[in-house]
Amino acid sequence: MSIQIPPGLTELLQGYTVEVLRQRPPDLVEFAIQYFTRLKESKTTQDGAGGVRSLLPSSKGVNFGEPMQTESNGEDEEDDDSDFEPPVINRFSRRVSVCAEAYNPDEEEEDTEPRVVHPKTDEQRLRLQEACKDILLFKNLDQEQLSQVLDAMFEKKVKPQDHVIDQGDDGDNFYVVERGQFDIFVTKDGQTRCVGRYDDRGSFGELALMYNTPRAATIVATTDGALWGMDRVTFRRIILKNNAKKRRMYETFVESVPLLKSLNLSERMKIVDVIGEKIYQDGERIIAQGDKAESFFMVKSGEVKIMMKSKTKADQDDNKEVEITRCNQGQYFGELALVTNKPRAASAYAVGEVKCLVMDVQAFERLLGPCMDIMKRNIVHYEEQLVALFGSSMDLRDPGN
Ligand code: CMP
Ligand code: CMP
Repeated sequence: MSIQIPPGLTELLQGYTVEVLRQRPPDLVEFAIQYFTRLKESKTTQDGAGGVRSLLPSSKGVNFGEPMQTESNGEDEEDDDSDFEPPVINRFSRRVSVCAEAYNPDEEEEDTEPRVVHPKTDEQRLRLQEACKDILLFKNLDQEQLSQVLDAMFEKKVKPQDHVIDQGDDGDNFYVVERGQFDIFVTKDGQTRCVGRYDDRGSFGELALMYNTPRAATIVATTDGALWGMDRVTFRRIILKNNAKKRRMYETFVESVPLLKSLNLSERMKIVDVIGEKIYQDGERIIAQGDKAESFFMVKSGEVKIMMKSKTKADQDDNKEVEITRCNQGQYFGELALVTNKPRAASAYAVGEVKCLVMDVQAFERLLGPCMDIMKRNIVHYEEQLVALFGSSMDLRDPGN
């Protein structure tokens, strides 16, 4: 028997819990009566649109991007937005944060907000389009949204040792990497570790804008580089709205993925927030054996064939590939190289049209830690499969392979 959690219940209880943690009232029941009465009054006056802003901490002090030419300076746009923002507790946060979902899905109001526009030369626009073509957060945008995003982006050049983002700061912009290397540092319990790197591609700076939290990492350029920035207001107006849609589209699917069963609802929704959908046609190669790995894949629909270069001498000369297995709806692939830090162990091809939900390596490492044991155990199955196929054992974790 499955128990249906009524929509809104989780957010409602999270909101109450956060207020209790902030205010530490002596009488929880009395506080609950006051909290929910104020919530009801606030919702009634806002005609059902939410608007519990008076109950929540505000995000003042944020540094907005400085457009060369804007139709709006963006100030106070957030405060005009009366959508319900249920607060959540964030593990990176020193303070109470506000949840990403600043958009009420039931309220498909007309988007009449003024737009931020940074004029660009044709040459700049081409470079920008190229840098953005694989950005997962942009994958589900419609044409109009994407063109507003591109209009709002501005170029930022960096030099080695420039700090683009400092952990703990308020979030101002989201960044797409056009070129250059950027190290990611996370300080936790007084210890700073380099947890990864962006190398001529990728994007960062979405977390503080999505969840209204302080920056969760420090990003430092290690070479000359070029970035494209998007101001906080445009990011929230377009990407957050789109994320609310993504949550509705993918919630049921993500719940059905066996790998993600051990995650709670909020962890699964954070996954939905950062994934992008990619569609592949019959026969198209999704992953190439030997390539550097940058993403992780879940099969949303269709079938994926995993092929490996044959081990026999004659076949190797022909570059022949052998089918190892197939992945269907709800299954995942492309995790092995991310877990072992090695090149792709096999190739993956679409069989018919395939839709995949794709996550970048940084999000994979940040969000799928709790599923790591399952993935590591599965590597043993891969090795058994290869023994059955090729007759000899193969240690997929061994750097010599
Ligand atoms: P944000 O918190 O806005 O600013 C720092 C950014 O670093 C963060 O968003 C992510 O985009 C990026 N990042 C990459 N890896 C990590 C990580 N392991 N933890 C936190 N942030 C990360
Ligand atoms: P990765 O090495 O990143 O890219 C190829 C993917 O094929 C790999 O991750 C696994 O997800 C998937 N795969 C499925 N079966 C096997 C297998 N027996 N050996 C290696 N990879 C496999």
